[in-house]
Amino acid sequence: MVVGRPLLTVEQIQEKNRELADRISADFKGKNLLAVGLLKGAFIFFSDIVRLIKIPLVVDFLVASSYLKSDSSGEVKIYYDIREDVTDKDVLLIEDIVDTGVTLNYLRERILMRCPKSLRICTFLDKKERRQVDVPLDYVGFEIPNEFVVGYGLDYDNKFRNLPYISVFKKST
Ligand code: IMP
Ligand code: MG
Repeated sequence: MVVGRPLLTVEQIQEKNRELADRISADFKGKNLLAVGLLKGAFIFFSDIVRLIKIPLVVDFLVASSYLKSDSSGEVKIYYDIREDVTDKDVLLIEDIVDTGVTLNYLRERILMRCPKSLRICTFLDKKERRQVDVPLDYVGFEIPNEFVVGYGLDYDNKFRNLPYISVFKKST
């Protein structure tokens, strides 16, 4: 197993995060921002972006993982759910990567059932080509090609999350 060529450098990531955080700070000004990080994958992106957001906010987390079944319908398991009351909150769900869209679509509908004031989605990466379920994305860091990537919180088999940049991952044969 090898980590292949870098796709996004530390500098590119930092610049994009500042841009996204500025937009979020402007859009949520005067609102009741609840930033929800989707773990594990988003833990680094989440901690970087919340520190760049210049308006008051409350943080919470959702720990979930999805298993793709043979018919490609996903099953999402929740390990830790949002504990904050979302009813009067403008929720911003912060995700590492949207691939098929199955995970995010499921979580989005689950949060909407709890009647937040509003719900927006921010994802660091978007693998658009792979989409099976259409999910509205409000803030997208980078659109990437259909390649498996690791680093900056993203894993292969729970490894490589600590790599500070995004790299294409190739399984050696
Ligand atoms: P989706 O339900 O297919 O959109 O899957 C999203 C989840 O799959 C993400 O939150 C990641 O945990 C994982 N994932 C999808 N593509 C990649 C990748 O290229 N690298 C690492 N994890 C990925
Ligand atoms: Mg993952």
